[in-house]
Amino acid sequence: MATYPLLFSPGRIGRLTLKNRLLMAPMVRNYADERGQMTSRYLAHLERIARGGVGAIILEASFVSPEGRGFRHQLGLHDDAVIPGLEQAATMAHDYGARLGVQLFHAGRQTTAAVSGGQPVAPSEIPCPLLGELPRGLDRMEIHSLVRAYGDAARRAKAAGLDFVEIHAAHGYLITQFLSPFSNRRTDTYGGSTENRRRFLAEIIEAVRKETGPGFPVTVRLSADEMVPGGMQPADAQDLAIWLQERGVDAVHVSVGNYGSYVRGRMIPPMAVEDGPLVKYAALLKQAVTIPVITVGKLRTPALAETVLANGQADFIALGRELLADPDWPQKAEQGLADEIHRCIACNQGCISRLFEQRDVWCTVNAACGREREFAGLAHDDEHRKVLVAGGGPAGMSAACTAARAGFKVVLCEAGDALGGQLHAAGAAPHRGGWSELLQDLRHQLKLLGVEVRLGTRVDKKFVKQEQPYGVIVATGAEALRPAIPGIGSLNVLTARDLLEGRARAFCSVLVVGGGCAGAQTAEFLAAGGHAVTLAEAEGDIAADAPLDDRTLLLGRLKSQGVNIMTHTRLISVEQDAINLQSGGEIFGIAADTVVLCLGSRPKHGLEVELMGLVPHIATVGDAVSARRATDAVLEGALAALGLSRAAAREPAAVKAAS
Ligand SMILES: Cc1cc2nc3c(=O)[nH]c(=O)nc-3n(C[C@H](O)[C@H](O)[C@H](O)COP(=O)(O)O)c2cc1C
Ligand code: SF4
Repeated sequence: MATYPLLFSPGRIGRLTLKNRLLMAPMVRNYADERGQMTSRYLAHLERIARGGVGAIILEASFVSPEGRGFRHQLGLHDDAVIPGLEQAATMAHDYGARLGVQLFHAGRQTTAAVSGGQPVAPSEIPCPLLGELPRGLDRMEIHSLVRAYGDAARRAKAAGLDFVEIHAAHGYLITQFLSPFSNRRTDTYGGSTENRRRFLAEIIEAVRKETGPGFPVTVRLSADEMVPGGMQPADAQDLAIWLQERGVDAVHVSVGNYGSYVRGRMIPPMAVEDGPLVKYAALLKQAVTIPVITVGKLRTPALAETVLANGQADFIALGRELLADPDWPQKAEQGLADEIHRCIACNQGCISRLFEQRDVWCTVNAACGREREFAGLAHDDEHRKVLVAGGGPAGMSAACTAARAGFKVVLCEAGDALGGQLHAAGAAPHRGGWSELLQDLRHQLKLLGVEVRLGTRVDKKFVKQEQPYGVIVATGAEALRPAIPGIGSLNVLTARDLLEGRARAFCSVLVVGGGCAGAQTAEFLAAGGHAVTLAEAEGDIAADAPLDDRTLLLGRLKSQGVNIMTHTRLISVEQDAINLQSGGEIFGIAADTVVLCLGSRPKHGLEVELMGLVPHIATVGDAVSARRATDAVLEGALAALGLSRAAAREPAAVKAAS
């Protein structure tokens, strides 16, 4: 009997049969070209996803009309020129037995003129609460032409051979802006009563049906709770789902939120939010309708997904970031290899944070995400030449894994007594367990790949001469910065890493110096441990480097734990009986037993120079280059190994290490 019998039973959406109950959630990647057309990079990415066994892929929110563009390199459905690219995607998905759909999208006010090319448009002239630009109110003629644009977009999808379309009526974009009293203050037939606010969507469904013909499957994604005052509530969503069913919609896909509530961390739940937080909304809608209900949101394990189906809370499971992290999630689950799944840790660093910066989407735990073509070319070194990796942090572990996949004999050397580097400190703070999961998963991969790990081993000239490797990857990390101020060497001054990694302890009252994300998390760690905590930050914002939603949740927790936050405040000296701070022109002392420094770090490099001329190939990666986020470290490690594999493919085995 299969381990997840429900997950891997076929399911129907309208007339469409899916081979299993898994869909890839729509996600803008910013991989399309500037005309909104499919690219070879995107096709390679989709091919990798389809190969992993998902039942259907819902292509990203794709703009139906140019002024509705929300992201610079988003897919478009606005022009017949997009059809050939979509056709290639459909053929490719079908080759793997996956269905392909696409989301019909218009950003409305949730975009900026810089991206959409003109003043955003909306039902009413109310700025987007997050992006802040004042939209222009749409007139009736424009509304009619937008309805036609949705219909035309659906026609193009069908002409390209796609199996279904999903109307994006969630997340506060144009359709939600009409549906919700939060954003719709119109007084004509498109505003006011519920019926009027639904008119735009009703006309879109009609136009889509007209253009695609009877029986072409149409799903609608909606926000079951907008989570803003005056916005749509779960009861409204239940009623809306019934209304959609009456209009012949084939499935509802249940998400939550809009840009006004994004920071509450439910639309794209970050690490601090529990798994499956949106299932309860799907279950509510399931009570109201008989058409299939699709649930989404941090459904990270096959066991949880199976339970949701077994409980009758939903009919289909959409996986978003989980498939960026591991496209093989479905097939590993089906083969009973759930423990081998590379877990999405919900860090949001590589994916949504980059997207909101208008950059392309990556994944912290999967360097090949969006770089499928490059990694597909990972050459196999049949000579099994030796590669030394110096440093067992995330960059070093990632480099070692990729180098091992490339056939090298990899020796991973760590000067300390454990692998993990800064992942230990990162995972120690409350709500940051994802970093420990990443460490576990990397360790597991090292083991599966047969990487030799040598702890307590410092790589130096002598060691390299002895080992004669083909390449060395320097991933020696960074060390905590200690400012040159009086008293900084006192015994009661610790670094956050010493504290979080258990090498040092704080006394009762603690001053944390440095209010970046790491400092704020250290303050939370201490407060959770019962310490009285003051957090001092030289600039004006706390955790300014954290993803938006994570930051809001973190600040809320610091507040509820009574952490005393002081911005525009610097540490100027530590004396035996006083710790002195400066804020503006004023210098004052505070009572604290321990000072914890969280002021960033400085690269520990130098090994590369020491080894120059000793090995054919040396690369430096991660914090050893400059201190950055884990997502950069993991990627750089993998890319360095990829570079070595390419060099090895060019250089036949006779190339030996210089003695
Ligand atoms: C990078 C990124 C892009 C997204 N783009 C879309 C989108 O185009 N349309 C949409 O409805 N939701 C979008 N979402 C939300 C996802 O579809 C999904 O609902 C959310 O990520 C939660 O599911 P997960 O935990 O499985 O990732 C996006 C999420 C991410 C991370
Ligand atoms: S970047 Fe982080 S949140 Fe995004 S898919 Fe990868 S692991 Fe998940």
